[in-house]
Order: sequence, then structure tokens, then C-alpha cells
Amino acid sequence: MAFAILTSSANSEIDIQSVVDRHLLVVGQTGSGKTTSVLALLSELQKKNQTVIVLDPTGEYTKLPNTVTYRLGENAYLAPDQLRVDELMAVLNLDWGPRLRTKLSQAILDLRITRHLCKSNGIFKRQGVLIADYQQDLRRLATWMKDYQFTKLAEQLIQEFVVPYADQRADFNYLGQELAQDQLRQNWDQIITLATRIAQPEFQKLFDYDPHPGTFKVELNYLFKQFTSQASEHRTLVIDLSLLRQYPHSQEALISTLLKRVLTLRLASNIKFPVRLVIDEAHRYLPKEADLVKNGIFQIAREGRKAHLTLILTTQSPLDLAPRLRSQFANCLLHRITDPVEVRSLNLPKKVDSTQLLVGKGWLHCDGNEWQEIQVQLPEWWTNKNDQNKR
Ligand SMILES: Nc1ncnc2c1ncn2[C@@H]1O[C@H](COP(=O)(O)OP(=O)(O)O)[C@@H](O)[C@H]1O
Ligand SMILES: [Mg+2]
Repeated sequence: MAFAILTSSANSEIDIQSVVDRHLLVVGQTGSGKTTSVLALLSELQKKNQTVIVLDPTGEYTKLPNTVTYRLGENAYLAPDQLRVDELMAVLNLDWGPRLRTKLSQAILDLRITRHLCKSNGIFKRQGVLIADYQQDLRRLATWMKDYQFTKLAEQLIQEFVVPYADQRADFNYLGQELAQDQLRQNWDQIITLATRIAQPEFQKLFDYDPHPGTFKVELNYLFKQFTSQASEHRTLVIDLSLLRQYPHSQEALISTLLKRVLTLRLASNIKFPVRLVIDEAHRYLPKEADLVKNGIFQIAREGRKAHLTLILTTQSPLDLAPRLRSQFANCLLHRITDPVEVRSLNLPKKVDSTQLLVGKGWLHCDGNEWQEIQVQLPEWWTNKNDQNKR
């Protein structure tokens, strides 16, 4: 019994299904027991053969038994060609305007041409290429010819600044004749930033473009697709995102992108088995009010139930969530919170006092029902040793 209600008269078990059938928010200050509660919850879900995907920013969930664990950069990677250009920019944390974004898509297209039509991993030189020939290349470039030499992206981007001569020698039959130096100089910072990001070890590992022979890595989009489309027994997938710890914006973009993918796949299919998506310490990845609609967490919060996807989110303060996102969570497990402003924002009934809660104690609220005081029991596999390891 991982979840027991403490009442004055008797202990009784909580129906775990009702806790996870709606989006669940687990909220409480650091050390109040959020992660432990979710681990206890996941142990119960395992017994019920439910599919769970944990996006684990810190690596804390790797201690949960019976999981399939993938560590980003070790045995999992992200194929850059699986990302749309705006997603790629977000993951690389490039805050570019529409013009440079267009050039970046163009650069990707050109690198696909060199790889698939010229069988080279070099860049595509646009100088002196006839527009008619280029169009023919584009027609030959099939949609499956997706991958490209990612490491050459910054170098290729420079090529996208090729224009016809500015004088009477201009020949408009060509893609271009010389580099537009002024424009290039204006965008130089961004180009160098791109080159720098691509060279960073974390992104090298994330995108796996310097693979070591003998190591096998699974592509994240593929992994997500498999896990959310085929039901099988006892499945908890843990994706350890700690590789990108230093890049919270990239983590946020990655989580958002993956969740959107799952939602799209699920909405387009008839697959009905439920998938629970756990995001611990979600405050690091939550979108601001203005960015809500584009964000995968919000999209799942709003539309996920149609696709049998529900969220389990832990966060330190209820104020971390934009109100429109907060209102999507029908269920709440409240651990200790003492800040009066945070407490007030929860609009709790009188009997619920979150300021006095001991570790592992909480108040649970499931869609429309009364708040119940609960004590979360540690799962069977939890030992003191486990606790010591953590410290
Ligand atoms: N239900 C519980 N029963 C006993 N000890 C608990 C319980 N929940 C948490 N703890 C203890 O408190 C510590 C911190 O809990 P944790 O879940 O990591 O908090 P949070 O995720 O809110 O920061 C745990 O390592 C464990 O020792
Ligand atoms: Mg925690």
C-alpha cells in the first residue's frame, strides 16, 4: 500500500487510478517529499502494468526498479533532422528572427542536397549555380532524404548569403555570384554562436554526430513513438536529461518538442492505452503565459486526455504555473508549503493546512472530491541504504 489515508478512525487505501486519471500536480517545497511520492506512485502503477514516461532532469528516477532507462548522451540521442527548424533553434537556444531562420532552413536543404545527391559531406557552394539546375536538384530531393551533415551547418549558413553582383556583371540566372559581405557581417554574431553551440560537448552528445564505434544509441523520437504506441507489460521509461543540466532552455525546448510529438502521434492514431508523463521539478521547464500555446506541456495539459495522455508534474510553488496551465490540473497532491502567498494562491478549504506538514505527509485532492490528508508510504524497495546513497 503506497498510498494510505490517515483518518482519525482507520487507515484505508486510495484508489490510485483516480489519482492519475486526471492531470496531477504534486507541489511542495524542497525536501517535502514530492519526488518520493511520485516514486511511490510509479511503483503502484508498475503493479498495474501502466505505461509511464519519466522526464528526469536530475537523474533521481534511475533508482526506481523495473525501469527502462535512457541517458541522453549515453544511450540516447536526438537526430537533428527529426526537428523542425524552429525546434532545432529552440533546442540550440538560438533566439533568431524570421530572416535568419529562413536562411537556416535553406542551409539544411542545401546540406541535404550535398549528402544525398552529391554524396558528399561538404557544404553546398551556391556561387555560380544556375537556378534551373538548383530547381532540378530540389525536385530530385525526396522527403526521406532527411539527414544532413549537422556539423557543417554554420559554414553552410554563410553560403546562404550569396547574391548576384551589385553591378552590370549581375546575372540573375544564378543563385548568386558573391557573398553579401554587409549582410554577413550583420549576422556574424549569430553565425558564430551557432558554430560554438554545435561544437559544445553537450550538444555533440545530444545530437550524436561524433559517434564512437561500438556504442549503440537510440533516437529519442523513435523511443517515444515506440513507448506510446505499443502497450506491453510493466513499462516505465525513464529519460535522464541531466546531460543538458547547464542548458535549461534547451531542456525546456526538448521536453516541449517531445511532448508535442507524442500528442500529435496519439491524436492521429486510435491507440487508447493510457500513458502517464512525469516531469519532476517542472518549474524549470514551464512556459510563461505568453508562450503557453506553443508549449508541449501546455498542449498535453489541455488536449492530452483526448489522446489518453496525462501529466504528473512536480513543482515547488503553485505560482510556478501560469493560471491557464494550473487550471488544467484536476488533481493535486500538496506537500509542505509555508509561504503565505503561495498558500493563499491555492484557495484551500479551512481544514487544509499545508504549513505544518511533515515530510511524506500531504493533502490529496482528486477532481471534485474533498481534500484528504494522506501519508505516503515508502515503496517496498525503498531501504535506508537507498536514502544514504542519495546523500
Ligand atoms: N513518504 C515518505 N516517508 C518517509 N520519508 C520520506 C517520504 N518522502 C520523503 N521522505 C524523505 O525526505 C527526503 C526528501 O524527499 P524528496 O522526495 O526528495 O523531496 P522533494 O522531491 O520534495 O525535494 C527523502 O530522501 C526521504 O528521505
Ligand atoms: Mg524532488
